[in-house]
Amino acid sequence: MSTNGFRTYNGDGRHRVIVTRPLPGDRWLDILTAASLRVDVWTGVLTPDSKLLRGYMLPCCDGVIGQLTEAWDESSFFLLEKAGCRVYSNYAVGYDNVDIEAATAHGIAVGNTPGVLTDTTAELACALTLASARRIAEADRFVRAGSFSGWSPTLLLGNLLARKTVGVIGMGRIGYAYARIMTGGFRTNLLYYDIRKNCDIERYVARFNRFLVQDKKPPVVCTRAESVDELLANADIVSIHVSLDEDTCRMIGKRELALMKEDAVLVNTSRGSILDEKALVCHCRTHPRFLAGLDVYENEPNRAPGLDSLDNVVLLPHLGSATRWTRESMATIAALNVTGILRGLPVWPDPENVLTFLGSVPPAAVPSIVNGHELGLPIYTVSP
Ligand code: DGY
Repeated sequence: MSTNGFRTYNGDGRHRVIVTRPLPGDRWLDILTAASLRVDVWTGVLTPDSKLLRGYMLPCCDGVIGQLTEAWDESSFFLLEKAGCRVYSNYAVGYDNVDIEAATAHGIAVGNTPGVLTDTTAELACALTLASARRIAEADRFVRAGSFSGWSPTLLLGNLLARKTVGVIGMGRIGYAYARIMTGGFRTNLLYYDIRKNCDIERYVARFNRFLVQDKKPPVVCTRAESVDELLANADIVSIHVSLDEDTCRMIGKRELALMKEDAVLVNTSRGSILDEKALVCHCRTHPRFLAGLDVYENEPNRAPGLDSLDNVVLLPHLGSATRWTRESMATIAALNVTGILRGLPVWPDPENVLTFLGSVPPAAVPSIVNGHELGLPIYTVSP
């Protein structure tokens, strides 16, 4: 352990990689050190101060594994290029904290960790849906406060999910996994909004309906909404699964909340800035039957004033991908992104399907590089 807050592994390594937070498991470190890399890991509980981190990158840094809580902008990539860096991997699937154009301009490949947090995040969205609809967090506080004096016909009544309509905004990988659990598990109807029609979810619902009909149960309905407004006005539960960009930033504000049903449930496990948090606080205050479950915030770890005191909102500390398997797998993928680029390997053509990289002999490829095309990196081809 050095005195400056970094711990060094394999100090004699040929190249130097900086990891800005301790990561779970050992495999990622084994991968980096087996590739003859010196690995400097920041050991603090919070992200290192950016001045300190930048100072530490010079004079030489070949690769970085960083976090979504850090801003990787033009000035960072300028410095990284000067330090000889060739690859930065985000320890996250989302990369709204990374200026990809700047990285590309400085010749630095940017990796992310898709494919291993789809089910984990979808499951958490379901947990938040249930917790909000059935007022689980509020009920837990009620019991612990000693207020439970016996069963009551009117105590903490929530919303039934079965046969309601779930609205999914963004039918990508995570939205799809969430929709499947909700439809298949709770027999909810599905209303989704996405710029593209999702044939997979429509086929899944059609197959599920054949099973329901055989089982003498009414089929569920799957509809693609024409607009977010249509979805908000008609869904009983709305779950957000779009990534953050200039089109989705604050896509749900005062006007959109006003379109929703009086007792709707709103869940956000995507990025905080998609929702106008102050508008949500006002809406929840004036609509006590409205329920919300949030895992992410506009300005993490801070929350909008008043949010913490609302009983109709369940709050989590950004736990979407927080299962041991997923977090260790994300670390493995990030380490393989870095070693793969430093070894000059080609880029895996299908970053959504990276499970093969978790096996004991990963393919000789880089699992997921988001600017590979722009940098002209070669693509891995499976030999016939
Ligand atoms: C991601 O990977 O983008 C998640 O938000 C991390 O939990």
